[in-house]
Amino acid sequence: MSKQQGVFDLAELQDRVAVITGAGNFGIGWGIAKHAALQLGMHVVLIDLHQATVEQASQQLQALVGDRRVLGLTCDVTQSADLEAAALAIDQHFPDTGIGAVFANAGVIFNNTILRSDIDDWQTTLNVNILGVVRTMKALVPKLQAQSQRSIFCSTASVGGLVRGDGGAAAYQASKHAVVALSESLSFELAAKSPQIHVNVLCPCIVSSALLQSSQTNKRLKSDPSASAAPVTQPKDIPLGMTPDRHAEQVFDLIAAGKFYLVTDNIRPYVEHDFPFAAAQIIGERFHNLSTLELDNSDAFAAQQSAYPSSILKGPMFAELARRAQED
Ligand SMILES: NC(=O)c1ccc[n+]([C@@H]2O[C@H](COP(=O)([O-])OP(=O)(O)OC[C@H]3O[C@@H](n4cnc5c(N)ncnc54)[C@H](O)[C@@H]3O)[C@@H](O)[C@H]2O)c1
Repeated sequence: MSKQQGVFDLAELQDRVAVITGAGNFGIGWGIAKHAALQLGMHVVLIDLHQATVEQASQQLQALVGDRRVLGLTCDVTQSADLEAAALAIDQHFPDTGIGAVFANAGVIFNNTILRSDIDDWQTTLNVNILGVVRTMKALVPKLQAQSQRSIFCSTASVGGLVRGDGGAAAYQASKHAVVALSESLSFELAAKSPQIHVNVLCPCIVSSALLQSSQTNKRLKSDPSASAAPVTQPKDIPLGMTPDRHAEQVFDLIAAGKFYLVTDNIRPYVEHDFPFAAAQIIGERFHNLSTLELDNSDAFAAQQSAYPSSILKGPMFAELARRAQED
């Protein structure tokens, strides 16, 4: 195991800067930003797409984190020039403070089957979820390379990037598979050359957030920029989901333990219940398919009875959700 992917002493991050894209809507990025400032003593650069979103979230974060400095930056991760401007603004705002961690976390989701999907939604999905990560890597990894101190570059994929493709989120899953591969590639590229950079890929299971709504809001504002004030979207509390705060704890626990694939399952102590997503089992099913060179579609037939067309949203968490829905 190279030093690059080994255990990470989080105390090394104290007083350094955490840069987090897609942190303005109180979801996963917001949880990471809060944890970085409050638990790890980091300063935070909070990045999101709209000025109103960034201002509201960064003011709220600053009010929580006392003497830790918060810089809010409006930046579209589909625009290289925006990311280069962000990198410059970070240098100017924090001239003597190194970057300890970058989280390329901005993302969108448009759920649909392939045959019903909209090609514009595909383009947005691939542009934000894949090329947004590539652009963030190109803008910020050179800064980490120029530092001798250890740092973290973590891209947000999804557990959907590790399991088989199935029913209703083809564009999203394709994009998240790409983020996993990209992160493995970055890790390999840097392993010998820049081992001080610890590369991770974050593969969350289910976290309460407003991803569906923020994706629709951003889509609407793109087609009608005159509707200027982007509302900050508060996360919906997903039953049995992790809160962004508890999720962030798991992210940093896995980084500290030296894991590369940060698969954040819905497990204790990060949730108060015993209905996990069971990510390892569902990931294992994909690898069983690969090892036999066969694709098991039996869940598609079971779905016709359960009306739940998925081969990945199953296991204890979804069984319990289905049981509760029947009770209601
Ligand atoms: N919530 C979950 O259960 C879950 C599970 C797996 C993966 N994820 C991933 O986690 C990441 C964060 O999502 P979340 O669930 O916290 O929802 P979220 O809505 O809080 O975060 C997504 C953020 O990305 C921002 N964004 C979208 N396009 C952008 C662009 N072009 N430039 C800059 N910012 C942009 C949005 O404005 C939003 O703030 C996403 O990559 C998502 O795919 C979420």
